[in-house]
Amino acid sequence: MSSARFALLSLFSALLLRTALGADPVFQFCSTSRNFTVNSPYESNLNKLTSFLYTKTPSSGFGLGSISHVYGLVLCRGDTSPLECKACMADAGAEIRRRRPLNKGAVIWYDKCMFKYLDANFFGQIDNANRFASFNVNNVSNPAVFNRAVKGLLTGLVEEAYTMPKLYATGEAGLAGKMKLYGLVQCTRDLSATQCKQCLESAISALPICCDGKEGGRVIGGSCSFRYEIYPFVNV
Ligand SMILES: *[C@@H]1O[C@H](CO)[C@@H](O)[C@H](O)[C@H]1NC(C)=O
Ligand SMILES: *[C@@H]1O[C@H](CO)[C@@H](O)[C@H](O)[C@H]1NC(C)=O
Repeated sequence: MSSARFALLSLFSALLLRTALGADPVFQFCSTSRNFTVNSPYESNLNKLTSFLYTKTPSSGFGLGSISHVYGLVLCRGDTSPLECKACMADAGAEIRRRRPLNKGAVIWYDKCMFKYLDANFFGQIDNANRFASFNVNNVSNPAVFNRAVKGLLTGLVEEAYTMPKLYATGEAGLAGKMKLYGLVQCTRDLSATQCKQCLESAISALPICCDGKEGGRVIGGSCSFRYEIYPFVNV
């Protein structure tokens, strides 16, 4: 956590987040400063790998592969249909190259998918470097109770997710009145169950930093992420 690049971003209000779904990437990083040159083998391998993953991923929602020294991984959110997954990957593949045209490593996240590539094998390792948080600027009226509910829901989801083949779980919890809390946790499937649990526990430990008393929040990383909101955001 101390070594993590931990950018705190206040992105949108809940309303904006809802209307922006599917439009813009949530965030992107260069994961290395190394560059490739135009028309190099690296570029052509990256292009081949991107189209390979585009073909391979949507049916299961997860894909990884390497061509020569280019390693790539795609994860679609656990509730996406193959069509949604494919559409998101098309956006991600094009957008990351537009924003990071010559970078040998980058990660881009959308609501429904993430795409990561690097010139070194990163499979099976928890990515602590590429991680960020965002939150809904609106404050809840009873932060202490709310924070406990958020932590309780997400902790329960972690216990479930890491035992599942998809390393993914969603759920909801009642709040005071008619309010409800909705949560989602997910890991990339190159991680072992134990690594997934570890990754998510570390993400959840950032709750007091990112999301104290906030109506919604996310910690999103190269290996795992969580999100909670006071409105439903998962397809059922
Ligand atoms: C890679 O390219 C960027 C943008 O052109 C440049 O700022 C950076 O210094 C380059 N990195 C290296 C290691 O040369
Ligand atoms: C929420 O609380 C923080 C800290 O007290 C404050 O800076 C911020 O303006 C509040 N947000 C809204 C939308 O009122």
